[in-house]
Amino acid sequence: MSQEQWTAVDQYFTNLLVPADAVLEEALRASDAAGLPQINVAPNQGKLLMLLAQVHQSRTILEIGTLGGYSTIWLARALPSDGHLITLEINPTHAEVARKNIERAGLSSLVEIRIGSALDNLPKIAAEGHKFDLVFIDADKVNTPDYFSWALKMTHRGSLIICDNVVRKGGVIEAGTDDPNIQGIRRFNELLAAEPRVSATAIQTVGVKGYDGFALAYVVAD
Ligand code: SAH
Ligand code: DHB
Ligand code: MG
Repeated sequence: MSQEQWTAVDQYFTNLLVPADAVLEEALRASDAAGLPQINVAPNQGKLLMLLAQVHQSRTILEIGTLGGYSTIWLARALPSDGHLITLEINPTHAEVARKNIERAGLSSLVEIRIGSALDNLPKIAAEGHKFDLVFIDADKVNTPDYFSWALKMTHRGSLIICDNVVRKGGVIEAGTDDPNIQGIRRFNELLAAEPRVSATAIQTVGVKGYDGFALAYVVAD
């Protein structure tokens, strides 16, 4: 099995199941043009996020790690007209690209971008009393354990917490790794395992983005 084959199969499913979408394509084009890294979720992963939020009937969503707003658009499309999504981004250039992309998507009234380090903004958002039906964690991997702790504070019984990039080409099983990103993800997985308030699983994926995976946690107690 090769990256070439994973990419071809992703292309096959995306062609079949993820209709061509000028707004999303333009969001990626504008992100590229601005020099943003191409680390957005793949189209079929973006659609999975939207489907999960739809099935779950999420009305309030928190995203940690906006980049150019590609996953933001997928998630916000699941919201009802009175829904709300807060997305956190440390890089003002990324946030500005995202703002334009979200505007073009007609989603500005639903989406609030907060610029700054997520660890600075999360306590403020919690202090404002926000509660979220769904949290998507996809920023730096080092602070992912802290993002999960904040997510737990701002969710309720019935909420979903989704965390991207929990496999890192299989690096996640290297207990002695000196890679701080993998250490962060391992610590997150350990918190997830030890947390009685969630029922969780993790899934490996291959595709256009290589070999990685995501974790899904269902908050089963307040
Ligand atoms: N969710 C996006 C991809 C996010 S990439 C998508 O799928 O389309 C990760 C983003 O997190 C980058 O834009 C990066 O600038 C941002 N980021 C990194 N560290 C951060 C921090 N400490 N606080 C907030 N955002 C951060
Ligand atoms: C990276 C970050 C991501 O969120 C992702 O999905 C893939 C790669 C990265 O920082 O390399
Ligand atoms: Mg990611």
